[in-house]
Amino acid sequence: MTACMVCLCPTTDTSEYHVACLQALYGAKSVPSFRYDAGELYRVAAQMAGKMSISGIQEKVSLRLSADRSRLEVAATRGRYILKPEPARYSALPQNEHLSMRLATLVGIEIPPCGLLRLKDGTITYVIKRFDRTDRGEKWPVEDFCQLAEKPVRDKYNGSAELCVRLLRKYASEPAIEVGKFYRLLLFGWWISNGDMHLKNFSLLTEPDGLRRLSPVYDLVSTRLVIPNDITMALTLGGRNKRLLRKDWLAFGHYCGLPERLVNRMIADQVKILPRASEMIQISYLPDSMKQQFIDIISGNTAVLVESGAES
Ligand SMILES: Nc1ncnc2c1ncn2[C@@H]1O[C@H](COP(=O)(O)OP(=O)(O)OP(=O)(O)O)[C@@H](O)[C@H]1O
Ligand SMILES: [Mg+2]
Ligand SMILES: [Zn+2]
Repeated sequence: MTACMVCLCPTTDTSEYHVACLQALYGAKSVPSFRYDAGELYRVAAQMAGKMSISGIQEKVSLRLSADRSRLEVAATRGRYILKPEPARYSALPQNEHLSMRLATLVGIEIPPCGLLRLKDGTITYVIKRFDRTDRGEKWPVEDFCQLAEKPVRDKYNGSAELCVRLLRKYASEPAIEVGKFYRLLLFGWWISNGDMHLKNFSLLTEPDGLRRLSPVYDLVSTRLVIPNDITMALTLGGRNKRLLRKDWLAFGHYCGLPERLVNRMIADQVKILPRASEMIQISYLPDSMKQQFIDIISGNTAVLVESGAES
């Protein structure tokens, strides 16, 4: 069975995309061509580093579609897409990130259009559409939580889940809604064992209606899949950054000021998607050797959420 490189649902034949999914990502019926192979792309990424309006540790390339939408082109300015190749150090990161983003949708988290893209040599890369640009070239203001906290970039790991909640209370237009969304995102990130949810991986976006909301999510990966012993979360929660238990999530829900019913429902929803998530992992483009590992990770974390669930 072949999965669609956008939605990770089966396609009816051996094609790697649904036409509707290509439409959603590129506004085109066929995959835009991209003329680079992995080696060339690394060179472009190295040239682009520091010149792009997006930061981050990983190599990335800014892209735009040609006017007829048949080609993806490297774009130093006004790019509408970000492409992340596989980094030398971590195998299958594009597949891991894309899968993590798709898994997030199972608990209702909003993701920007994104998908996998093969280079000329067949290498798989990850492409995400920018949520802060319009087709007409307008830019919507975005501030990440490191900026909101007025911390220098080097302090991006120096924070807590509670700090993020306070930032939302201070800066989001509708804090009660955004704090709920943040809770769900953090819980999901922990569930896939993403140890890299630091302050620059959350942002507030000012939308055309003038309201400041959490941006669609980005940079979700299961870091534990690539660094097996990594169980440390980037931000502390209740003063701790590892071995969180169900009761810690309940306590954090309380800190967030969320109704207990809502917190219980979000935890229950996280637990409930395990079978569907496992199916998605199985059909995904992750190498077979990593699939069971990923299922073991989410199964273990699901068990933590279920444990002593009766008491609450
Ligand atoms: N879809 C998007 N639309 C707009 N901006 C984005 C999008 N995805 C990422 N960004 C911005 O680009 C920055 C870098 O992207 P991302 O976090 O995916 O890269 P990274 O190199 O993996 O980061 P890290 O340093 O966390 O490892 C983000 O902090 C965010 O500000
Ligand atoms: Mg990042
Ligand atoms: Zn699809």
